[in-house]
Amino acid sequence: MIPIDLSGKLALVTGVGDNMSFAWYIAKALQAAGAKLVFACHPRLVGIVENILTRDHPDDVASRQLPFNAGTLKVEKVLACDVSYDTLADVDEKTRNDRRYAKHGDFSIQGLMDTMLRDYGVIDILIHSIAFSPEIKNKAIATSRSAYLTALSVSAYSLTALLRAALPMMEHRPGGAAAVGLTYLGGERVVEHYGGGMSSAKAALQIDAKQLAANLGPKNIRVNLISAGPYASRAARAITDIDKAIQQAAQNSPLRRPITPEEVANTTAFLCSPLASAITGEVIFVDCGFNIMGAPPEP
Ligand SMILES: NC(=O)c1ccc[n+]([C@@H]2O[C@H](COP(=O)([O-])OP(=O)(O)OC[C@H]3O[C@@H](n4cnc5c(N)ncnc54)[C@H](O)[C@@H]3O)[C@@H](O)[C@H]2O)c1
Repeated sequence: MIPIDLSGKLALVTGVGDNMSFAWYIAKALQAAGAKLVFACHPRLVGIVENILTRDHPDDVASRQLPFNAGTLKVEKVLACDVSYDTLADVDEKTRNDRRYAKHGDFSIQGLMDTMLRDYGVIDILIHSIAFSPEIKNKAIATSRSAYLTALSVSAYSLTALLRAALPMMEHRPGGAAAVGLTYLGGERVVEHYGGGMSSAKAALQIDAKQLAANLGPKNIRVNLISAGPYASRAARAITDIDKAIQQAAQNSPLRRPITPEEVANTTAFLCSPLASAITGEVIFVDCGFNIMGAPPEP
């Protein structure tokens, strides 16, 4: 048996919004393989995530069960980070005075990494599972400049910003460090409902991951993306007709079924493990093969 062993590794997981998030399943798979976890959540969602991690409601208890009978999810810390901001100096007045943000202290990327450096000193695994556009329901033709730039900033540039700030903790780790981000087919082919600048953001994220893989390879840091098939998470539910997109992908995929978040999580664990030690700068599709089809499958 070939084991995936991440024991002794520290994983910083961004993008947990609730227990439906891809990042939630990814965190559980990483921990099932032995990794310790720190979550970096959007400041407005920290309380929600902390509740899900501690509540006794049977649904929450069940959602904390690790796969492979590996026990129960345990997170070292839940930190607040809004990846729109590199430093607190970038934060606008209104946000700075918003108590839901202010109560977390320094919720910028720099603030997050300062805490990581002080409390842990190392990061072996960085998960980027973040996307946002204020106009996701608008087709490309109807997307404003401001929404387009927000989508690019939050969903794409944040990978560069997080890796730059994390670099002193990730470089030259024993066995190397790994970053994995999430992308979507809409970043390379037209998926009309994927508007609001999100398709452009995913296209940017995909070339950024290659650039970053080249920049950071000499420091023994690998950077890969998973292009996941459609799945009804909180973010995806904001997209028009996500259920239709899921059904259509399922019907037209070679495997004729939707993906599961566990499948994305398992692939992430593999990409972060020594089994993937020569894989960097890649986009791995976890989409039941949907992307390979040039026409609907024959019945
Ligand atoms: N669900 C799908 O169909 C699908 C398919 C392919 C790729 N993806 C990608 O998977 C990733 C995770 O999405 P998900 O589907 O799990 O949805 P989700 O809503 O659970 O996760 C998105 C996360 O982004 C976070 N976020 C948004 N703006 C932020 C900011 N400024 N600072 C910090 N965090 C911020 C949200 O808090 C949330 O936790 C995204 O990159 C998404 O594009 C999703």
